[in-house]
Amino acid sequence: MITATGLELRAGSRILLSGTTLRVQPGDRIGLVGRNGAGKTTTLRVLAGEGEPYAGEVHQTGEVGYLPQDPREGDLSITAKDRVLSARGLDVLLRDMEKAQNAMAELVDDTARDKAIQRYGRLEERFAALGGYAAESEAARICANLGLEDRILPQALRTLSGGQRRRVELARILFAASEAGAGGRSGTILLLDEPTNHLDADSINWLRGFLKAHSGGLVVISHDVDLLGDVVNKVWFLDATRSELDGYNMNWARYLDARATDEKRRRRERANAEKKASALQQQAAKLGAKATKAVAAKNMARRAEQMLADLDDERQADKVAHIRFPAPAPCGRTPLTAENLSKSYGSLEIFTGVDLAIDRGSKVVVLGLNGAGKTTLLRLLGGLEKADTGQVVPGHGMRLGYYAQEHETLDHQASVWQNIRHLSPDTGAQELRNLLGSFLFSGEQLDQPAESLSGGEKTRLALAALVSSAANVLLLDEPTNNLDPASREQVLDALRRYEGAVVLVTHDPGAVEALEPERVILLPDGTEDLWSDDYQELVELA
Ligand SMILES: Nc1ncnc2c1ncn2[C@@H]1O[C@H](COP(=O)(O)OP(=O)(O)OP(=O)(O)O)[C@@H](O)[C@H]1O
Ligand SMILES: [Mg+2]
Repeated sequence: MITATGLELRAGSRILLSGTTLRVQPGDRIGLVGRNGAGKTTTLRVLAGEGEPYAGEVHQTGEVGYLPQDPREGDLSITAKDRVLSARGLDVLLRDMEKAQNAMAELVDDTARDKAIQRYGRLEERFAALGGYAAESEAARICANLGLEDRILPQALRTLSGGQRRRVELARILFAASEAGAGGRSGTILLLDEPTNHLDADSINWLRGFLKAHSGGLVVISHDVDLLGDVVNKVWFLDATRSELDGYNMNWARYLDARATDEKRRRRERANAEKKASALQQQAAKLGAKATKAVAAKNMARRAEQMLADLDDERQADKVAHIRFPAPAPCGRTPLTAENLSKSYGSLEIFTGVDLAIDRGSKVVVLGLNGAGKTTLLRLLGGLEKADTGQVVPGHGMRLGYYAQEHETLDHQASVWQNIRHLSPDTGAQELRNLLGSFLFSGEQLDQPAESLSGGEKTRLALAALVSSAANVLLLDEPTNNLDPASREQVLDALRRYEGAVVLVTHDPGAVEALEPERVILLPDGTEDLWSDDYQELVELA
């Protein structure tokens, strides 16, 4: 169980949450929702015991499995399989067993060899007692279900993509939680921050089933409403406008209804407050004319002001980003071509001999299963990585805008302002401020280091960086990940209106619909085809 009492959370000087009591118990399957930057990740970190609250206390009993939103950078030299097995300490045992086995084979001295044999026996006994043999195959099963193929398991984490690493982390946590105790029931509390990022449709389906059956307690942050609809039996809505968390003790469908009713009531209250404030102001103006009532009038005016200021706060937070991609700079007929691109990592061949030509204003979707090299292809096209064979040929006037899934185009140490400033040194300060404002960055947040932004805020900043260029070819890798529904709609709208060329990688069918692609590139073969609606289904699967 996790209990938090008198919880106060802050981000800089902003209060995210105050005076809150939270409890996660066995049987709870809680969906934690709220706008980008509302404080969901912060809350989950604190519940996981990885962050200190500003005030209040957090108590944990039992095991907790926490999947952070950003991949953690631990020891990257260990293999994927060891990382998963380490959840139960089995990796160390296995390694020791292997050492003892080698010693048995190599030692010639009889006594030394006998010792090694005994040692192996002891280790093996322990391994078996911990359910090691069954566990190994269980770990492999979970990995396979999360789209991590067998060939990936012996690879060092360093050689895996960000998405694969995150799936290894998820597998590790689920492996620990599935440690069945009696009858497949696990007492582990799962705290999962956007677990479906980087997962394909089959894996998401499997995860849904796993989470639905999990009895030990769960808090999940997700922008996947189907998953929430299927899994959760309670909802925590983190309301950024009020720094409060509303608990709804019901499933997702009923929550949506209840929220709609609450919103209506709040809108009514707001309208009433506005009316009252304006009545006060009128009164104050009348009174103010009489010298004897000057003080009363001032008080009244102040109260009205306060009321309106509170309302302004709410309106500010209700705003959504107004995202437009740039007007593309003029360019030749085919701004980007690539010939015979191949890429391998070690002995692992990702793709070979991919040719493509991106015409001015053309819309192309890249499809392929997990690991087929979609992100790699975009990185090659964007010049972030070198191909083993072949080349990328810029056409006349080409200007690239690259949006990276892992936000690696951002300078994480630099502030929000500096990130945009150095991209467009010639643009006036006011113009940049307006641009950032339309992406909902203003005030203190301009000075915030990019690394401390929330997942959705990083996505917004990286997209703002694209807009400040005059790119005529956009390479977009999962541009709707991490965004709350309102911001996602804005990005889709921007995609619809953009006149330059786009090469898009996405699992989001809505993003493809918005793009209206003419062509599709299928990886790993690099085959090109005209877009047809048959491919739409593949988008979710890929
Ligand atoms: N050091 C800091 N200084 C100022 N603000 C910060 C700092 N660290 C985090 N924040 C802000 O705290 C807020 C909450 O962040 P958090 O990551 O919890 O949001 P979230 O609800 O998980 O959002 P998302 O849906 O985008 O993942 C964000 O607005 C973030 O910019
Ligand atoms: Mg978050």
